[in-house]
Amino acid sequence: MQQANWTLVVAVAQNGTIGRNGDLPWRLSSDLKRFKKMTMGHCLLMGRKTYESIGRPLPGRQTIVLSRRGCDVAEGIRVVGNIDEVQDLVEDGRQVMVVGGAQVYRSALKNCTRAWITRVLAEIEGDATFAPLPSNEWCLESTEGFPEGPTDEFPTQLEVWRRRADS
Ligand SMILES: NC(=O)c1ccc[n+]([C@@H]2O[C@H](COP(=O)([O-])OP(=O)(O)OC[C@H]3O[C@@H](n4cnc5c(N)ncnc54)[C@H](OP(=O)(O)O)[C@@H]3O)[C@@H](O)[C@H]2O)c1
Repeated sequence: MQQANWTLVVAVAQNGTIGRNGDLPWRLSSDLKRFKKMTMGHCLLMGRKTYESIGRPLPGRQTIVLSRRGCDVAEGIRVVGNIDEVQDLVEDGRQVMVVGGAQVYRSALKNCTRAWITRVLAEIEGDATFAPLPSNEWCLESTEGFPEGPTDEFPTQLEVWRRRADS
């Protein structure tokens, strides 16, 4: 079943890496600022491991954590064991933003109709990866390049993807 209009938000290196040792494998302040702007006011859906690596609720956003075995979370955060329970918990006016990690991107992709992908323009070693979106189901709408800023380790490129209507 495809649910309405979830947005996937990910930063991925050229070799597919998104994480290493439970954390992000880069420092990219500009991308974190973009992430904050894109997600503010919305509902973040994340996996238990990503929640533990962030370690706190992100202000101004609803957070829903996916965990089958359950986990301790800060007040106000909901934990659900099944992705089909998510939509009913989303507060009015918020869109679901799927923010990782690797397992949750795989589980939730079927519910996403839009993807904001930051390409980190480097090959980076890691243990968590994101597979390319299938080109028969998704199309690239726009691309914008960003040179590396003073507190970024690498230049980046933001891609906006949309699920094809017939997929
Ligand atoms: N580059 C990026 O944009 C980005 C974004 C986010 C995270 N990351 C990185 O990704 C890595 C973490 O990814 P990960 O794959 O190891 O972990 P994850 O997806 O954050 O969390 C995995 C956990 O989420 C729960 N889960 C996943 N799918 C589920 C489902 N369908 N139903 C119920 N529960 C589900 C399970 O929790 P239980 O074990 O508790 O049952 C599972 O062990 C870290 O390195 C992090 O820094 C990168």
